[in-house]
Amino acid sequence: MATNGKERISTTDELLRAHAHVWNRTFAFVSSACLKCAVQLGIPDIIHRHGQPMKLSQLVASLPALDPSKSHCIPRLMRVLAHDGFFVELKAGDGGEEEEAEYTLTPASHLLLRTTPASMLPFLLLMLDPLMVKPLNWLTPWLGNDDPTPFLTAKGQTIWDFAGQNPAFNSLFNEGMESDSRMVASVVIEECRGAFEGLSSLVDVGGGTGTMAKAIAEAFPEMKCTVLDLPQVVDKLPGRKNLFFTPGNMFEAIPPANAILLKWILHDWGDEDCVKILRHCKEVIPSRQEGGKVIIIDMVVGHQKLEEANTHGDKSTQTQLFFDMLTMMLVSGKERTEKEWANLFSAAKFSDYKINPILGLRSLIEIYP
Ligand SMILES: C[S@@+](CC[C@H](N)C(=O)[O-])C[C@H]1O[C@@H](n2cnc3c(N)ncnc32)[C@H](O)[C@@H]1O
Repeated sequence: MATNGKERISTTDELLRAHAHVWNRTFAFVSSACLKCAVQLGIPDIIHRHGQPMKLSQLVASLPALDPSKSHCIPRLMRVLAHDGFFVELKAGDGGEEEEAEYTLTPASHLLLRTTPASMLPFLLLMLDPLMVKPLNWLTPWLGNDDPTPFLTAKGQTIWDFAGQNPAFNSLFNEGMESDSRMVASVVIEECRGAFEGLSSLVDVGGGTGTMAKAIAEAFPEMKCTVLDLPQVVDKLPGRKNLFFTPGNMFEAIPPANAILLKWILHDWGDEDCVKILRHCKEVIPSRQEGGKVIIIDMVVGHQKLEEANTHGDKSTQTQLFFDMLTMMLVSGKERTEKEWANLFSAAKFSDYKINPILGLRSLIEIYP
């Protein structure tokens, strides 16, 4: 709400709008909680399988985990999610009092189907898991101590060490990353082939279980693709054809390659660590003339495709700012503006960069030695 720099409320209208704004932001978590509940109940999948607008009574009857005494809660859950853009609510019947709501999916709930190749469901379940949400409650005490992250304050370990010792969380985390990489790989290979064409080898540093590298290896069979990640992530993964897995620590050694891919890596780290990672990358790639480059997939705050197109622009910036807080709370990282990225690149002695905001909220950035 714009206040034109005024701090005092002078009209009742202003008071009520300010009050509504405070309530809206206070209860924003309700939206995430309802969405998580709907996907846990399998509502998007049930409506999808129905194949046509689904009556509320049919939906209620199709929810195996629902106790009959809670049936009256489902219309309220559906109403808030329809308002939030996850379902379309149609009114069947003659418009009289007896009319029953019917629901269809929206593009956003399509992305939450278990069967959609680009399903975001595992990522949503990761981000809304109590282990990821709990550190948010530690923000204030964390600001008063010298721990590197609220995650460490809450769990006593970094997220990477915690994943190394908790196989269930390790799987949840890796599945969340895989689901994101499936979506990103499909867009990047479709829209940004040129960034990879002509490369003979690529190392995906911190490449997780290799979803992104697998897609690149398939799209470019001549390219040798190697995934470097922590042992707990890649130790048991078999390579195939032009895809290889190497356990290791990116702060210690990165295998040499024509190009290095850093997808969702640098936003996990502070500036000093990013410069270290980028310097290691620069040491193992050839010169720009010989095709050497580092390809980064991350956010550039305020530089997103959606903002340019002027649709959902405000929400895009807000989402980027939410992510910035999450990287601060979970991993000591940050989301960076173009100026902050440029400072990192020049501190690591790269000569030039190109930002391509092809991924909506994220960009593909090429940097050259
Ligand atoms: C945010 S995830 C991104 C994974 C993958 N690039 C993706 O986007 O799907 C960060 C990855 O960095 C890995 N990682 C963390 N510290 C690392 C280190 N010191 N050396 C290598 N990989 C590391 C984690 O195991 C994790 O897979």
